[in-house]
Amino acid sequence: MGCAHIHARPDPRPTLEAPDDDAYLWLGAPREVAIDWSELDNPDRELVERALEVSARAYAPYSLFAVGAAIRSRSGSVYTGANLENASSGLTICAEAAALAAANAAGDFAVEAIAIVGFSFADTAGASRVVVPCGSCRQLISEAASLTQSDVRILCCNGELSNIVEATISQLLPNPFGPDNLGLPHQWPRLQAKLQARVKELIDLGLRKGQVPR
Ligand code: THU
Repeated sequence: MGCAHIHARPDPRPTLEAPDDDAYLWLGAPREVAIDWSELDNPDRELVERALEVSARAYAPYSLFAVGAAIRSRSGSVYTGANLENASSGLTICAEAAALAAANAAGDFAVEAIAIVGFSFADTAGASRVVVPCGSCRQLISEAASLTQSDVRILCCNGELSNIVEATISQLLPNPFGPDNLGLPHQWPRLQAKLQARVKELIDLGLRKGQVPR
């Protein structure tokens, strides 16, 4: 059997060196749009501001690239995260992953929107390019979206907040691998209820034995 040849279609996207006003193009799909700060409503402005604020807490001594992420849940609460690097290079935790973990730990994992701000802090020219979520983060966001069966809006920003590109997770990661592929689409709520009941039992047990301080 001969090899299947994949004929690459011409890529309409400019390279990552594209000028900033082409930012909306290099994300990929046509519906992603570059938007102006003045077009953001107040909750989205707050989300972007929180992402910029938390980027100050990045632990990024290796890349010198700070990323802040802010998640708004359906309840309107905001959870933040910053990138966390490590001398053992592969262990880096992205800002988006940190923010998702914070929302999950708060028991508020119905993610509605995420703002991401990223910039190179070593040089003043490093804050003009929009940051987009890496592939792993797209996968994590995609699964969060699948839990609520809704899309998640992502506001990708540069450090100066002069460039903001809005996309949805389904645009950034079409046809994702997810719980459906494992035949598990509806099982988590039941398992989660079981988990929570078990934790309650363990706490009660600890209380009875005097092991858990009241
Ligand atoms: N980074 C993020 O936090 N989120 C992304 O989506 C892209 C990359 C971080 C990881 C690393 O600490 C630094 O940016 C450079 O890759």
